[in-house]
Amino acid sequence: MNDSTVAVIVVAAGSGTRLGRPEPKAFVPLGDDTVLGVALDAVLGMSDPPYLVVVAPDERVEEARAIVTSRAGAASVAFDVVAGGETRQKSVSRGIAALPHVIETVLVHDAARPLTPSIVFDEVAAAVRARGHGVVPGLPVIDTIKRVDARGRVVATVDRSELAAMQTPQGFPRSALEHAYSRAHGEHTDDAALVESVGMPIDIVPGDARAFKITVPADLHRAEQLVAERARADAAADVAPAAAADPAASVALPRVGTGIDVHAFADDADTPLWLAGLEWPGERGLSGHSDGDAVAHAVCDALLAAAGLGDIGGTFGTADPRFSGAHGEVFLAETVRRLADAGFRVGNVSVQVVGNRPKLAPRRAEAEALLSGILGAPVSVAATTTDGLGFTGRGEGVAAIATALVVPA
Ligand code: CTP
Ligand code: MG
Repeated sequence: MNDSTVAVIVVAAGSGTRLGRPEPKAFVPLGDDTVLGVALDAVLGMSDPPYLVVVAPDERVEEARAIVTSRAGAASVAFDVVAGGETRQKSVSRGIAALPHVIETVLVHDAARPLTPSIVFDEVAAAVRARGHGVVPGLPVIDTIKRVDARGRVVATVDRSELAAMQTPQGFPRSALEHAYSRAHGEHTDDAALVESVGMPIDIVPGDARAFKITVPADLHRAEQLVAERARADAAADVAPAAAADPAASVALPRVGTGIDVHAFADDADTPLWLAGLEWPGERGLSGHSDGDAVAHAVCDALLAAAGLGDIGGTFGTADPRFSGAHGEVFLAETVRRLADAGFRVGNVSVQVVGNRPKLAPRRAEAEALLSGILGAPVSVAATTTDGLGFTGRGEGVAAIATALVVPA
């Protein structure tokens, strides 16, 4: 069990009159959980798990205990569940009465703010310990605020730069909170108001829009949407690492890869040029173990990388006599076969040739048709020069850069 001196009191004893549901607000379903369950997950996500006190409606204490036990037990967090009172203030004071002696810092949180990020709890707890007095999360007020009299007539416009909207968790040194609750006169709408009423300081730290309170049905609808969004994001994050570890496990997602290849022009003027799977009569050839087709090789590298199958050097090997002088077509066809074995087909490929020669434009369509036919998927071929710069600008060789998308077969 943890030995924290920080406690979080989660007040969940309200009936939720304005929400208009048959069950009390904290027990209303939210995603595949309840409002209270989601709120507790946020508390238990704190970097140092606190002591937990849950204040539940009298007739729901055991139900609340079951909800808390399943999570707090797994997180090795010590907790207590107590019955609340008729007002929020009474419920908080029942929670305070349940605090163990070791507790020095107390955060009071509304279960009705289930989507409050864990970091807000961490920040409030740290600020209370650093400053030695009350700290509450607040947001700037965006709407213009008017003071209005009983007849509905505007009396004044309030300077909103002086205003902040309060959220929870509100944090206090235990002694300050106990002192304020023991002296309290009348009802206060939040714990900070009570602590202020006995003349103790309160600081504001930045709140978070997600810490909004579920009060009316539209708030519950907004919370449902956020929970569904979070579940989708979690599901995507779960798939990605599995895909990285095992290419065949990535069935749900397409994958991209890049490949670059460079070949120098051959010294021998009789060497034929093969590029993008085509022979280019009259052009100086490229040197290499195979036919030096930089476009085909870059495409193979991009496809192999996308499928997580390594690269062309590791797959075909320059020592293998079967590939000596082989044309790009051979490598491309073999790459497609290996992709199929690993459970992928080609989505599309884009490749750019970098060099002065050959001029690609007149035969671009022919190259695209040939390569698309071999891969069984669209291939786009583009070309550029480098303005006379670098090895391609000096006419020493040709480079090709390819991007490939592969999809589960
Ligand atoms: N609360 C409580 N005990 C009460 C009243 C409220 O523990 N007697 C808690 C609620 O469960 C909620 C928080 O205080 O988590 C904020 O209160 P509010 O949003 O007003 O909730 P309800 O009182 O349940 O709702 P309503 O006012 O619409 O009835
Ligand atoms: Mg209320």
